[in-house]
Amino acid sequence: MSLPQHLALIMDGNGRWAAHRGMSRTEGHEAGVKTAQKVYRHCRNLGIRHLTLYAFSKENWQRPKDEVSFLFGLVTRYFTQKELRELMERDIRLQVLGELEDLPATTRKVLESYMEKTAGNSSMTLNLALNYSGRDEIVRAARLLLQDGLRPEEITEEALASRLYTVGQPDPDFIVRTSGEYRLSNYLLYQAAYSELYFTHTHWPDFDEAELDKALAEYAHRQRRFGRTGEQVESPTK
Ligand code: IPE
Ligand code: IPE
Ligand code: MG
Repeated sequence: MSLPQHLALIMDGNGRWAAHRGMSRTEGHEAGVKTAQKVYRHCRNLGIRHLTLYAFSKENWQRPKDEVSFLFGLVTRYFTQKELRELMERDIRLQVLGELEDLPATTRKVLESYMEKTAGNSSMTLNLALNYSGRDEIVRAARLLLQDGLRPEEITEEALASRLYTVGQPDPDFIVRTSGEYRLSNYLLYQAAYSELYFTHTHWPDFDEAELDKALAEYAHRQRRFGRTGEQVESPTK
């Protein structure tokens, strides 16, 4: 079965999952973290090399203060010594895609120490898109191109891509969004040029190993053409 090299997930629907159960939104986020844990382990077992989880967008700062601080608290609480051991045992490198400077100091410190400690791991890269905005990422890359003094003719797709948060990683082959919304919400805008997209009505906390396997089975049947004809893709000698 052909697996995506890079799988990117939009973990949506924690709030609705909780509302259906008469629970608070924060309880939904709590359940969502457990799902994220299950899913990254499953991806590692399957042999997916790059996994990106959309955890917090720049636009999410507009949410009620209590919810925002709960979410960052959750990140800090979730990154325990036990979790670090798990990442080390499974040879997983943690990366953050997004602006770390604007995060609460404790959250930033925990994430920085995890990134440092797992930097040498190479079986899977786990990217946490946190305080992330795809448009902002492109603007930031443009600024870096200028700062680095590139001449107009030196500004290529490669030069720009090497200034994105995902530098050195393949573009996402497969983007999965839960909870029935059919949009990207500012996720990996540059990198998603040829990503296969998949949407499910399942709310994130209910997205388990079997749901992921179902999505991956569909991915395996997709024909990726990158602008060529179907015939060219099927017999590359044509
Ligand atoms: C996704 O669930 C988690 C974050 C965006 C942080 P939501 O909180 O967006 O849940 P819904 O979309 O309101 O159900
Ligand atoms: C996208 O979900 C961001 C994350 C999953 C972190 P949102 O719930 O913020 O997206 P919109 O606002 O419905 O587009
Ligand atoms: Mg949402």
